Amino acid sequence: MAVQTAFFEPADEALAALADVTQEFHTSQGKVLACDRVTLAVQRGQSLGLVGESGSGKSTAIRLIQRLIRPSRGRILWQGQEITRWSDRRLKPYRRHMGFVAQDPYGSLFPNRTVVGNVLEPLILHRWEDPRARKARAEELLGRVGIPSAYAAVFPHELSGGQQQRVAIARALALNPDLLLLDEAVSSLDVSIQAQIINLLQDLKEDLALTYLFVSHNLAVVRLLCEQVAVMYLGKIVEVSDTAALFAHPRHPYTEMLIHSIPSFNDSGVSPLPDDPRQAGAVPSPGCPFEPRCPLAVEQCRAETPVLRQLGDGSQVACHRV
Ligand SMILES: Nc1ncnc2c1ncn2[C@@H]1O[C@H](COP(=O)(O)OP(=O)(O)OP(=O)(O)O)[C@@H](O)[C@H]1O
Ligand SMILES: [Mg+2]
Repeated sequence: MAVQTAFFEPADEALAALADVTQEFHTSQGKVLACDRVTLAVQRGQSLGLVGESGSGKSTAIRLIQRLIRPSRGRILWQGQEITRWSDRRLKPYRRHMGFVAQDPYGSLFPNRTVVGNVLEPLILHRWEDPRARKARAEELLGRVGIPSAYAAVFPHELSGGQQQRVAIARALALNPDLLLLDEAVSSLDVSIQAQIINLLQDLKEDLALTYLFVSHNLAVVRLLCEQVAVMYLGKIVEVSDTAALFAHPRHPYTEMLIHSIPSFNDSGVSPLPDDPRQAGAVPSPGCPFEPRCPLAVEQCRAETPVLRQLGDGSQVACHRV
């Protein structure tokens, strides 16, 4: 198998980072490399988008940063401190610095608790001050995300999808986190509601000095919210770049393909991504994972796995042809 050498270290000042992390899962179909030597750093105050098709390993990367799973190899860092092997007990005070918002707001809320009860839940779990202060905090957060006080006592099923997602965001903010991990947080919403939630996220980021890791398969949404974008393909980061530069000059052929599958970027209509039979997670094999679909592939791409390397302008790319 082609050797992939270690590349660069994520900067020490990164708020959260994965350093050369591999996550294998053993399934009935064999070994799946959900994340394959992933190096990803989220800088404080930044809004980083993580995009890629279904099965590329985006949610696994989020679960690794939360340290909900222990990686097969590599290191997980929180503010430069390695937390890779820490116990759940030791991690608990760290996890409160990370809020999480999932794709399906109804599924992520407790159906039998009221709206305010849902926001109170993490405050109670982490014994945040006293009951009166907790209630005031939960009510303040609901106001902050645009839920009128009259809705505090209703149950999640009485809200619209957009309102449910606002409650889920309020709950994720309850413990005053530094980092918000958003996994397809607007993907299940109507386009007009998506825009409202993105506006809300932009305001919250500014007001509360938050850092976002925003996972989405939708590059158009990422473009609205994120300053930097990382592109994943079959468990590997293939490109990291400032958003404007990524859209103006995509370096990796896969990024280019993704951008041209967005309707507004394609004068001749949508060109759907060609199917890849391997889209269900990578299986270990030599060569570039994108080689079977790549219009620029040459012999080297079949034999050697390209390493993510820094370019002069601060972007990163893993491609022999760039
Ligand atoms: N707990 C698990 N056990 C076995 N395989 C898993 C597990 N979690 C993820 N995988 C596999 O790892 C690969 C990456 O999954 P992941 O959920 O991270 O992808 P994703 O990019 O978030 O996809 P989607 O856009 O569909 O949410 C997939 O092939 C998936 O089936
Ligand atoms: Mg996912």
